[in-house]
Amino acid sequence: MSAGDGRTPPRTIRLSAPSIEDDDLTAVTDVLKTGFLIQGPHVARFEKTLAEMTGTAHAVALTNCTAALQLALLALDVRAGDLVLVTAYSWVSTANAIELCGATPVFVDIDERTYNMDPGALEATLARLAKTEDTRRRLRAVLPVHAFGQMADMTRILEIAGRYGLPVIEDAACALGASWRGKAAGSMGLMSCFSFHPRKAVTTGEGGAITTDDLALANRLRALRNHGLDPTSAFPDFIMPGFNCRMTEFQAAFGVTQLGKLDRVLGARRRLSKHYDALLGRTDVTAPYVAEGAVPTYQSYVSLLPEKVAPRRQELIRTLRERGIETNIGTWHMPMTTYFRTRYGFRPGDFPVSDRVFARAFTLPLYEGLTEADLETVVAEVGRALAEG
Ligand SMILES: Cc1ncc(COP(=O)(O)O)c(C=O)c1O
Repeated sequence: MSAGDGRTPPRTIRLSAPSIEDDDLTAVTDVLKTGFLIQGPHVARFEKTLAEMTGTAHAVALTNCTAALQLALLALDVRAGDLVLVTAYSWVSTANAIELCGATPVFVDIDERTYNMDPGALEATLARLAKTEDTRRRLRAVLPVHAFGQMADMTRILEIAGRYGLPVIEDAACALGASWRGKAAGSMGLMSCFSFHPRKAVTTGEGGAITTDDLALANRLRALRNHGLDPTSAFPDFIMPGFNCRMTEFQAAFGVTQLGKLDRVLGARRRLSKHYDALLGRTDVTAPYVAEGAVPTYQSYVSLLPEKVAPRRQELIRTLRERGIETNIGTWHMPMTTYFRTRYGFRPGDFPVSDRVFARAFTLPLYEGLTEADLETVVAEVGRALAEG
């Protein structure tokens, strides 16, 4: 029986699907058979591979990227009263991590085309905060996000942060394999946080990691992820309060086989994205913009709906789902989520670019297993649904 014969429902084109193959399954079952399941040689191998791929000296594997963000901030001793500058448009973990250290996120608006932290807005915000002695001394770090796998303008962000003596932590959750002016995501900030959630190009189920060139920070991160246990001591010694954020051995073994597929998976995502770009060129939907010097991963393919269609985006998503195509919004306007809005009193207009992008962003299905014909179906159905409105 085939789709279209009247009995088999046509296949759903999912928003995202991981590339999991026999070698991944074997890697996991081989570890399970040993009975050694927690943070051992497979985790060490995963970390070594990731450090090599990002061109960094150290990688610290963790349970997820949310933990990575929080541990990175704690490793810098970010605490109550501190201010951390962060992009306004991201998954909520990015700002939650700051808040959960007791610090205050200072949101910075984004660039309309790349969806990334706008360096001009960062510069203006820092200049304003530095004018007052009280806020100037509370400045602790800058946390840009590489939105949907396109790196932020790290050249300008590092230069501006450097002028104020502030470290930069990359939220590279979606950006493994991306680069900015030839430099790999994860290699430019003091620390960089990655996710291996199944919506990323390669996955460990849940999973995360931090890369850094700084050995002292790597050791603090290793202690923070393991109950505060000193990773350099020959005997058990607890040198700080820590969490349990250890990655399991079977996830790490899976991670190693997955990392081996990264180039192939990213190649497919980039090829398919080009096809989408061409197809959308014939519609009113705006294809994602790639800045000069950026090589993105296309963790998500996030287009912009025409402004007049934005108010009925949810209806569009529902209609397409009924027709077997999963689409979604982009990510979150964090200052306008209930928690941050009510805690800090933000209003529409405080971050005007994020307001617009948040309203119009529209994510299309993208993963290695899709074909060009699938993309043609998606764009045709989007066009049909838009015409019906
Ligand atoms: C930009 C960004 N930061 C952080 C995270 C959190 O990652 P995790 O799900 O591994 O905790 C995500 C997850 O999608 C993300 O997109």
